Amino acid sequence: MTNAIYLTTTEPFSGKSIFALGLMALLASKTDKLSYFKPIIAGGKKEKDRRLDLIKNHFNLSQSYEEMFVFSRKKAIKEINNGNEAFLIDSIIEKFKKLQESSDFVVVEGTDFLDANTNVEFDGNISIAKNLGIPAAIILNCSRRSIPEIVDLAQATLKGFLNKGVQVLVLVANKVEEGKEEEIAKRLKLVIPEETLVTTIPMHMELSNPTMGEIKESLDAELLFGENLLTNRVDHSIVGAMQLPNFLTRLGQNTLVVTPGDRGDLIIGALQANVSRKFGKVAGIIVSGGIHPEPSIVKLIEGLETIVPILQVEQGTFQVVTEVNQIRARIAAADKEKISIAIRLFEKWVDEKALAERIVAFHSDSLTPRMFQYQLVKRAKEKKKHIVLPEGDDDRILMAADMLIRQNVVDLTILGVKETIETAVKRLNLSFDLDKIGIENPETSEKFEGYAQTLYELRKSKGVTLAMAKDLMHDVSYFGTMMVFKGEADGMVSGAIHTTQHTIRPALQFVKTKPGVSTVSSVFFMCLPSRVSVFGDCAVIPNPTSEQLADIAISSADSAKMLGIEPKIAMLSYSSGSSGEGEDVDKVRKATELVRERRPDLKVEGPIQYDAAVDPEVGKKKMPDSQVAGQASVLIFPDLNTGNNTYKAVQRETGALAIGPMLQGLNKPVNDLSRGCTVADVFNTVVITSIQAQESAN
Ligand code: ACO
Repeated sequence: MTNAIYLTTTEPFSGKSIFALGLMALLASKTDKLSYFKPIIAGGKKEKDRRLDLIKNHFNLSQSYEEMFVFSRKKAIKEINNGNEAFLIDSIIEKFKKLQESSDFVVVEGTDFLDANTNVEFDGNISIAKNLGIPAAIILNCSRRSIPEIVDLAQATLKGFLNKGVQVLVLVANKVEEGKEEEIAKRLKLVIPEETLVTTIPMHMELSNPTMGEIKESLDAELLFGENLLTNRVDHSIVGAMQLPNFLTRLGQNTLVVTPGDRGDLIIGALQANVSRKFGKVAGIIVSGGIHPEPSIVKLIEGLETIVPILQVEQGTFQVVTEVNQIRARIAAADKEKISIAIRLFEKWVDEKALAERIVAFHSDSLTPRMFQYQLVKRAKEKKKHIVLPEGDDDRILMAADMLIRQNVVDLTILGVKETIETAVKRLNLSFDLDKIGIENPETSEKFEGYAQTLYELRKSKGVTLAMAKDLMHDVSYFGTMMVFKGEADGMVSGAIHTTQHTIRPALQFVKTKPGVSTVSSVFFMCLPSRVSVFGDCAVIPNPTSEQLADIAISSADSAKMLGIEPKIAMLSYSSGSSGEGEDVDKVRKATELVRERRPDLKVEGPIQYDAAVDPEVGKKKMPDSQVAGQASVLIFPDLNTGNNTYKAVQRETGALAIGPMLQGLNKPVNDLSRGCTVADVFNTVVITSIQAQESAN
């Protein structure tokens, strides 16, 4: 079941309004907790987006206009050009999620395709739909397209979405030629999979052609006469340059006449034709070239009973005609007639029952990197934890602290000298309030003696003397870890300037493992384009035994679960199933058996090769009865050589974001950064550490 849908198209003026109005009317009959959301609007803050205005007013939505969008088109392009796509997507996800939580259904509208760069826009819409984790409704503009062209367009568009893992609930072939609706639907159904509902909607003149009022507004024209007939629809326009008899032969139904202001004969002729039973309706007249009609002509017009709108513009005749041809009809909030036509069209042509069935049947397990990160930060904020960062001397740590404090994700203590940190914060032009964090210098801290004493007590059986314990406590890794041990911080993140050994050894020595776990290991959350995979162990245990491998697998599955990923464990090896022989394969086979024995609730497969683990087709071929093959989410490597190099290879070759390593199995969370870490890595590691701290407090 989905409670949101993404309305999108491939070009401007495809008729999204009909579907938006129809769908909103359908949903409004079922719930009043309904929202409409358009992440990127065409206008700015001053000039309201017409569709948002229309939908908000017509359906009397309680959400504010500001809640309905995130960026103006101009701002969105600026963010993309500045390389801030992640910020753009995160901001959209955040606002959407808020609406989703407070609504029964959210209709999301894609961008308007107002630029020449439609390919970029097409991909952008797919990416937003994917990151919101919602299915799409595609509306295609079929006007002036042959049936084979419509079929090609539909197939290509659908493929674009499906290839990126976005499901399409409905494909609407809009503005098809009247009378061809059934034939086109039939042809489309031959090539479009059944999961996607196919709908055709015929061209409707009333909705697709502009009114005189819209033309007046678009040309910024002066209205000379006929205010009460501005709703007249214009089906085509003619230039009045010839003699009156010839001119009259060209008048059709709902014609707009464009003529220079000094052609009083044509103006009067058009007005007479409009009231004559022998001629069709004249929609209106535009007098061009800035020439006002003669006073005698004006007098004659003033005496008439029915006067169609007469507009005056400065532009020349041919320019006016060109501009008029580009004016598109829109449905405004006050246009009750057009709104009801649109809703009626939807009701007539869209199989509402079939659409509802597809909304209910929709299921998505896609988790994009941005969705994953959004969920992590949201979770961390729910129950703020206190994290210690021992490496206050490193700029990346301070820059990440700035982001964490400004976003109110965690409370922080940074180890270091206060004055040095203050100077660095100024030098880096960071804006966070230093009073909001704790700064602790181990060298002068009043906690120092007590911490050294505790370390001595904990490690004296290992030969540590009080003098040695004091020596060790000067090391920020020991000091930070002791804060966590004592409960004066909930977790520690370090390793930007220290090695893995240096960072985690204190935790191994006295934070120790959780009850029931004897091995500390680690996982990376590998954010691949459409899913997040858990890789373990890639950072801690060089040559695990079968028992340790089983520990790694169980801890990794629990870590996956903790962060919302359903664990399906693949115990990796160079052989799949029972075929392989050899010590290394046997180690993995035994570890798999141990996992099954110790945790029968977990889905596990092993030994299995990487391709059979993650590729559905290979998985089905090699291990047809497996619940894991082809869909593994937790990948356990047989040793550190394989694990460490595989995570680095995937990260480098695919550009995947690797969050971690996150240590698992410790009594309290301590995490290690790599020395090549970025500010984003520090930020993400602090976020997962605080989630671990929430879990270990439970
Ligand atoms: N689980 C639980 N306890 C452990 C573990 C473990 N995996 N490893 C060591 N310990 C305990 C020991 O039992 C010992 O406890 P004790 O002193 O109370 O008896 C204590 O920790 C210290 O043990 P040592 O054997 O001295 O461990 P050492 O400190 O040398 O090393 C370490 C442990 C750091 C995990 C080591 O195995 C190592 O260097 N691993 C590889 C790290 C690495 O270089 N990773 C790759 C880079 S990271 C990256 O690329 C992201």
